[in-house]
Amino acid sequence: MSTATSGSSRPTTFVLGGLSSISAKLLMALTGTGLLIFVAAHMLGNLQIYLGQDKLNAYAKFLKGMPLLLWSARAGLIATFGLHLGLAVYLRRQNRRARPQGYVVDDPVETSLASRTMLTSGLVIFAFLVYHLLHFTLGVTNPATHSLTDAAGRHDVYSMVVLSFRNIYVSGAYIIAMLFLGLHLSHATSSIFQTFGLTGNASRGWYQKLGWAVAAILMIGNISIPVAVLTGMLGLPEGVAQP
Ligand code: HEM
Repeated sequence: MSTATSGSSRPTTFVLGGLSSISAKLLMALTGTGLLIFVAAHMLGNLQIYLGQDKLNAYAKFLKGMPLLLWSARAGLIATFGLHLGLAVYLRRQNRRARPQGYVVDDPVETSLASRTMLTSGLVIFAFLVYHLLHFTLGVTNPATHSLTDAAGRHDVYSMVVLSFRNIYVSGAYIIAMLFLGLHLSHATSSIFQTFGLTGNASRGWYQKLGWAVAAILMIGNISIPVAVLTGMLGLPEGVAQP
């Protein structure tokens, strides 16, 4: 996230709609932290697919067995995501207004690819999320795999995921989306530390490395699932046939 600077090189504080750019950046970091925690928790939940059909389906049933908690978490997640996206667009407009002519010198040493493409990667993740919800949560894109139940009568999330990822186009779309997620998180994580004032000059390099490590873990963990299905490491349980 770049901050516009005045002639004296002090950060410029914009006030538009009652929200200063510094408050907007703080809120951006706070909502980003919430989303990061969700993505990490969701990945850990999804990795239970390696423990088999029973474990994953039991976990999905457990989550859906607390409707009040589930809907509160969903509402919180939608609000957090909406605020995060809205703030990103707001801050981008503020930065543009501060320097309508753009930078005279584009210094590739100062800005990384990840930092320059934050809005683009964020919008790709948003598009992925819409598709992902239509796919696994609402069962709109692959209805045949969404209606399966296991021997215990539970929603068969395990078979739904395996059957879906056997389609190379579906797996490909997920893998590409996860690459964008990794790019986004690599900058987001170190940016969060910076916004909260946790970086001095000496520790900045360490936080950038931490950003890459967090992004790599989340990216590889998620990508491993479609790859494991495509390579046959994760297969269908007995009695479940390809629809
Ligand atoms: C390979 C990666 C992923 C897999 C295999 C996966 C799998 C799933 C599955 C199976 C569900 C439905 C659970 C159910 O109905 O019981 C789900 C829901 C969801 N996923 Fe993912 N997911 C992945 C990545 C992501 C990422 C990166 C995000 C966020 C950026 C995300 C956000 C969500 C959300 C918001 C829901 C809806 C949760 C709800 O119903 O309340 N997922 N995911």
